Amino acid sequence: MVVRRVFFSTLYVKFQITTKFSSNMDQGQRIRKKPTSKTTAHLFIKKKPKIAEMKRSRENLFHECRFGIDSTSGIISKETVQCNLIVTSPPYFGCRDYTIGSKNALGNSFSSSSSSSSVLIQLGHEKTPYEYVRRLCKTFENPQQTLAIDGSLFVIIGDTFARSDFVDEIGEFQNIYARETIGIHHLVVIEMRRLGYRMWQEIVWQKPSVPPSGAAQQRCNPCHEYVLWFVRRDCMPRPKFNARSIREPGKTPAGKVMPPVGGRKYGEYKKTIVSDGMRCRQDVWNICPSRDKSAHVAPFPEEIVEICVLACTDEFDVVLDPFAGTLTTQRVCQKLGRSSICYDMFDHQTL
Ligand SMILES: C[S@@+](CC[C@H](N)C(=O)[O-])C[C@H]1O[C@@H](n2cnc3c(N)ncnc32)[C@H](O)[C@@H]1O
Repeated sequence: MVVRRVFFSTLYVKFQITTKFSSNMDQGQRIRKKPTSKTTAHLFIKKKPKIAEMKRSRENLFHECRFGIDSTSGIISKETVQCNLIVTSPPYFGCRDYTIGSKNALGNSFSSSSSSSSVLIQLGHEKTPYEYVRRLCKTFENPQQTLAIDGSLFVIIGDTFARSDFVDEIGEFQNIYARETIGIHHLVVIEMRRLGYRMWQEIVWQKPSVPPSGAAQQRCNPCHEYVLWFVRRDCMPRPKFNARSIREPGKTPAGKVMPPVGGRKYGEYKKTIVSDGMRCRQDVWNICPSRDKSAHVAPFPEEIVEICVLACTDEFDVVLDPFAGTLTTQRVCQKLGRSSICYDMFDHQTL
């Protein structure tokens, strides 16, 4: 009788402990699953639009072009509108004369002679890469005036090989010797940091098919350029970046069940997802160069501008291109519902 009583009382105690423990476990799990933590709660709070944002609408969209202007004179920092994005492909060092066959804002034809005064102020015709870089970067001086605090600046730039030895008279940069790769993008990054920018990312624009150049006899055939992404040094809280808007096709086929987001260690709180065949955009962009060879301007492909605009601006934001050429940036902005301001020394449209 005593043995039976002891047996049943221990069984009862065991039952009590296990039920209490498991209910605690359930509660614990439920607490973890509920989106009440600080990290996820903000997802459920609807943001109120700011008054400045509400004023922006389709009727207020504008597209301005300013021709006959030397953008490297620092004029852009005098713009009254602070833009959300600057995207531009400046003339490359020692590559082209954009006056050939072009007309300036007043309609005067320029000769291609390099002694003409217009050629002297074209960017890219400086004696040394150091002068070129200082002039190019002067275009973007005073970032606080030109760019919104969460704005981005993309400079698309290609490298070249030195035709002679270069010595920086000011002594800020190291000597570059003939036939060396100049590494012009490195110089740009150094100068932009001096002007108050942070280098956010170096993106490689890979061109899928390029004909072999003279360089290919001595080294690998160059088939890429750089998309240098800068933000203001005091950028707050971080640059605007809509990652989802620029996703690209991934290698995982659509419909495949993927491991939890955040990896196995942290993923237990998050749901397993089913792949839609897309992935976050990577920092190598495989894009064909533009086929539009009109106006000898070397336009950049619309796709590059589209990625920058979609990623770093919202609808009705303002985009600026200080070396606008055939107005690729303006066309993309018209398509995507952004305002644009374009500068160029020449009006290549009036050929
Ligand atoms: C590579 S093109 C830009 C092409 C443009 N992204 C497009 O899609 O057509 C460079 C442009 O810079 C302009 N340019 C050259 N020097 C300039 C300067 N100092 N100020 C303003 N524009 C300049 C040229 O006229 C040319 O149109």
